[in-house]
Amino acid sequence: MSRYLFDNAAEQTQARITALESCYDPFSRSQLKLAGLAEGWKCLEVGAGGGSLGDWLGQQVGADGEVTVTDIEPCWAQEVARPRPANLRLLRHDIVHDPLPGQDYDLVHARLVLLHLPQRLRVLQRLVTALRPGGWLVLEEFDCSWIPLLAVPDDVAADLFERVLAALWAQLEKAGADPRWGRRVYGAMREAGLEDVTAATYAESWRGGSTGAGLHRANIEQVEGLLAADGITAGELARFYALIQDPVFAVNSYPLISVRGRRPESEVAR
Ligand SMILES: C[S@@+](CC[C@H](N)C(=O)[O-])C[C@H]1O[C@@H](n2cnc3c(N)ncnc32)[C@H](O)[C@@H]1O
Repeated sequence: MSRYLFDNAAEQTQARITALESCYDPFSRSQLKLAGLAEGWKCLEVGAGGGSLGDWLGQQVGADGEVTVTDIEPCWAQEVARPRPANLRLLRHDIVHDPLPGQDYDLVHARLVLLHLPQRLRVLQRLVTALRPGGWLVLEEFDCSWIPLLAVPDDVAADLFERVLAALWAQLEKAGADPRWGRRVYGAMREAGLEDVTAATYAESWRGGSTGAGLHRANIEQVEGLLAADGITAGELARFYALIQDPVFAVNSYPLISVRGRRPESEVAR
């Protein structure tokens, strides 16, 4: 059985959203601009989470453009204090099972959504069909297999960090996620018939106690109960939480691989 492991009803969601938006939005915005984002564009933002990129897209496309912002559990996307652009349509929508919310998009964007979906290749194909000819698909995903430790108090702490993260990824895989999906996106987008496929990767250091390190805390806290089954004890979890608060500690962030490609202007049978 598959399910989204980090469902948005959990109390850790806000910390996860804050970490993702503050660490990765500047890079995502730069990649969306490289796809040619312009006033008047019609955009689809899939699995928007906190919705900051949807809001930003709304500002970029202006009054003549429109942005449809979706999420399967949009509670956070709807509850923000900031004013939302008037050209935004917020939808509760499941990208796997619901009919597409529209067609002929100039831009379709999803960050850290397909990684969690066992049907990711079918969803990718659906997203391609939602584009106008010449429209851009931008998918941004983690490769969770490369997060080198940059500074640790000792080898015991390094081993603990790696064991806890390995247990998390094992649970993600059990729920149908592909923790290495980031490295497969480029090939999958070419296979789906997209042209001008280009990838760029972003990573940074996350020090103990930083907003980025808070992503690890939110993720592990949310699945604590499941990790016990993999032999992670309550004492180890307590030491893990202390470690990622320790300013001596630093780890590479998850690398976000951003891939963009465009639907061909004219499609001949492949
Ligand atoms: C890791 S969060 C990423 C949120 C946001 N895209 C970001 O990068 O900040 C994954 C999001 O995908 C949403 N999601 C999961 N399964 C989905 C589905 N089948 N259809 C639409 N959204 C989905 C979740 O509710 C969650 O908000």
